[in-house]
Amino acid sequence: MITAADPLLTVRDLRTHFFTGAGVVKSVDGVSFQVRRGETLALVGESGSGKSVTSLSILRLLAASGKIVSGRIEFTSRDGQNRDLTRVSEAEMRTIRGNEIAMVFQDPMSSLNPAYTVGDQIAESIMLHRRTRRREALEIAAQMLEKVGISGAGCRIRDYPYQLSGGMCQRVMIAIALSCNPSLLIADEPTTALDVTVQAQILDLLRKLQEELQMGILFVTHNLAVVAEIAHRVAVMYGGRVVEDGWTSEMFRSPKHPYTRALLNSIPAIGRHPARLQAIPGNPPNPLTLPPGCAFEPRCQYAIAECSRAIPNLVHTGNEHWVRCIRHGSL
Ligand SMILES: Nc1ncnc2c1ncn2[C@@H]1O[C@H](COP(=O)(O)OP(=O)(O)OP(=O)(O)O)[C@@H](O)[C@H]1O
Ligand SMILES: [Mg+2]
Repeated sequence: MITAADPLLTVRDLRTHFFTGAGVVKSVDGVSFQVRRGETLALVGESGSGKSVTSLSILRLLAASGKIVSGRIEFTSRDGQNRDLTRVSEAEMRTIRGNEIAMVFQDPMSSLNPAYTVGDQIAESIMLHRRTRRREALEIAAQMLEKVGISGAGCRIRDYPYQLSGGMCQRVMIAIALSCNPSLLIADEPTTALDVTVQAQILDLLRKLQEELQMGILFVTHNLAVVAEIAHRVAVMYGGRVVEDGWTSEMFRSPKHPYTRALLNSIPAIGRHPARLQAIPGNPPNPLTLPPGCAFEPRCQYAIAECSRAIPNLVHTGNEHWVRCIRHGSL
């Protein structure tokens, strides 16, 4: 997780809480991982495990009740400057968003403005970040659309979002995200709303663009088949914490955390089925009342009394593999 090889983003023990009428919601409560230049890290875990809140914390786009209460988000800019994003000013953050870090969300239809043509929306993003005139920005917008695989882009820039399919809209969102050459792309479930064929095309596109631009990608997903397809590394989240982090092939071959094992056991066969996470017996933890020990303990078949006493540390087990389980050595 934390190594010296060309780090781009290093998240250290991040805690993001929401202060609500019902109490403090500890959505992210000890998240650490690293994304390196040119590398894809998949962030996986059940619904509610804190994946989106982690992504939004990096960009500091949290709802008003949300606050980063501790931890560091170290980001290395193109100029080599390393900054803790939890501490930079809002003005600096605005420069970083879009220019250095871009985000693609799950639902392209609701992220695009129905009242403007797709060309205008890409051009607007270009003009916001570069000193270009509208005409030039529209030319770049057309080039971007070609780049993300939309043919006849010169005409397509005059289309409104409703005239495009879901897959095309997601390509437009990727074009907007990439129009400023970000060094880090955060993609939160970018293919979930798409059918399997279009999903495969979008993954192909992201891989190609990553190679060309040497971007780091933080890829949030439920789908383990997608992880196997696109990620170099995987960080598994449970109850607002990373419970395991390692190389994708090793994680699939020999998962060390009981939760990761349960996730992998729940899919019939990778490659043959569009694998989605299946239900594991029991309920995910409530972030309003996280247990004092391991959050997975109530559902874990290997749990012993000690598991409920204190939160286990994330320990290195070799080959850049980390696991947060006191029993990992004896499973
Ligand atoms: N604005 C908010 N106010 C209070 N709680 C919130 C807020 N946003 C998120 N949460 C809570 O934080 C927890 C983590 O949410 P998050 O959206 O990060 O989950 P996720 O892992 O992205 O899930 P999914 O796979 O369903 O997208 C959830 O329990 C959620 O209810
Ligand atoms: Mg989410």
